[in-house]
Amino acid sequence: MNDDAPPLLPRPSAASPVPQRASVTHMTEFVLPPHANSFGNVFGGQIMAWVDIAAAICASRHTRLPCVTAFVDNLHFVAPVRVGEVVCLEARVSAAFRTSLEIIVEVTGENPVKATRWVCTRAVLTFVAVDAQGKPMAVPPLLLDTPELVASQKAGETRRASRKAAAS
Ligand SMILES: CC(C)(COP(=O)(O)OP(=O)(O)OC[C@H]1O[C@@H](n2cnc3c(N)ncnc32)[C@H](O)[C@@H]1OP(=O)(O)O)[C@@H](O)C(=O)NCCC(=O)NCCS
Repeated sequence: MNDDAPPLLPRPSAASPVPQRASVTHMTEFVLPPHANSFGNVFGGQIMAWVDIAAAICASRHTRLPCVTAFVDNLHFVAPVRVGEVVCLEARVSAAFRTSLEIIVEVTGENPVKATRWVCTRAVLTFVAVDAQGKPMAVPPLLLDTPELVASQKAGETRRASRKAAAS
């Protein structure tokens, strides 16, 4: 069994807060030639796919429901990762709303031979929990048990207001 995997808590009621650690998701990908562009760096689109997958798993672990990607905030590729290197992703719930939740994915490059790591990119995604007909369903709140999580929820609410303002 994977020691990194969060505990398999049962489906929460929509009202009971879920700890962030219950859904933190780690993925590790080895960069192979089919992942790369002609410079030997992993494609931005491949990183985006891995980001979306890590965030989708995290969203479903939090809600215990199928979740769809509704919005991806700005993605800034800070530094490339090359063939033969490793891409490490960590996804965590940063804020939960009514039927949607915000997930932050931190992406790190790693050269296991040289023992180096660097920031590759960071993304903020919004997922919506849905039923079998694709209708949005209420999500449980995030358990705000540290000052950092209280600040994270508040920052997520501010970003959500900006998204709504930009969409209207
Ligand atoms: C996301 C989706 C389910 C929302 O459905 P909808 O009928 O617009 O639902 P609502 O207007 O009731 O909004 C539901 C939630 O989605 C959020 N939402 C909808 N569009 C959004 C957007 N562009 N950005 C951020 N949040 C969004 C709303 O804020 C609301 O969240 P809240 O309940 O926490 O306040 C629907 O637009 C959809 O199915 N989109 C396609 C998803 C998809 O195919 N993704 C790619 C593959 S997974």
